[in-house]
Amino acid sequence: MIHALYPGTFDPITNGHLDLIERSNSLFEKLTVAVAENINKNSLFSIKERMSLINNLTSEINPDINVVSFNCLLVELITENHYNVVIRGLRAISDFEYEMQMALMNRKLNPEYEVIFLMPNEKNLYLSSSLVKEIAKLNGDISELVPDNVQRAIKNKFLSKD
Ligand code: COA
Repeated sequence: MIHALYPGTFDPITNGHLDLIERSNSLFEKLTVAVAENINKNSLFSIKERMSLINNLTSEINPDINVVSFNCLLVELITENHYNVVIRGLRAISDFEYEMQMALMNRKLNPEYEVIFLMPNEKNLYLSSSLVKEIAKLNGDISELVPDNVQRAIKNKFLSKD
């Protein structure tokens, strides 16, 4: 059985991430989404909130998809839980350089590290969580960029910050 791991910050999950989750769910027998607590980024959503938004969505795709958090090295998470492969999306050439650096560094840390890159739906090529947050903050329309539960959560966040 191939157990795939899809790691990311997901602050918040967007339609682009969801597209990759759906693709991975049809390709692999078992899928886990790992949410990085993230030491470098200032998150809008807490780790609990990010996981809960993802859980609401994955339970409709396949209730067997696991959602976990991590605050260690990705390779440690993989070794401890015996995931077979990591899934990442490649949206543009700019992603490629970053992803190649990460993949090769992860393989340096663990020679058994294996990653598969999936091509997202072209509708989501320009999407990123930061852009979604910026648009929402300035009252722009994000309805085609994120699922409904995320749209509501972002609106509530910005309302509570006013
Ligand atoms: N569709 C839309 N947007 C996407 C996307 C997709 N398919 N894939 C990524 N993105 C966006 C995200 O929204 C995010 O946007 P933002 O920067 O505006 O917030 C950006 O692309 C990158 O996000 P993500 O895919 O979540 O990756 P990340 O760079 O935040 O996370 C980790 C990378 C968490 C996997 C990596 O940092 C990691 O492994 N950390 C653990 C510590 C570690 O092992 N470090 C050593 C690594 S060598």
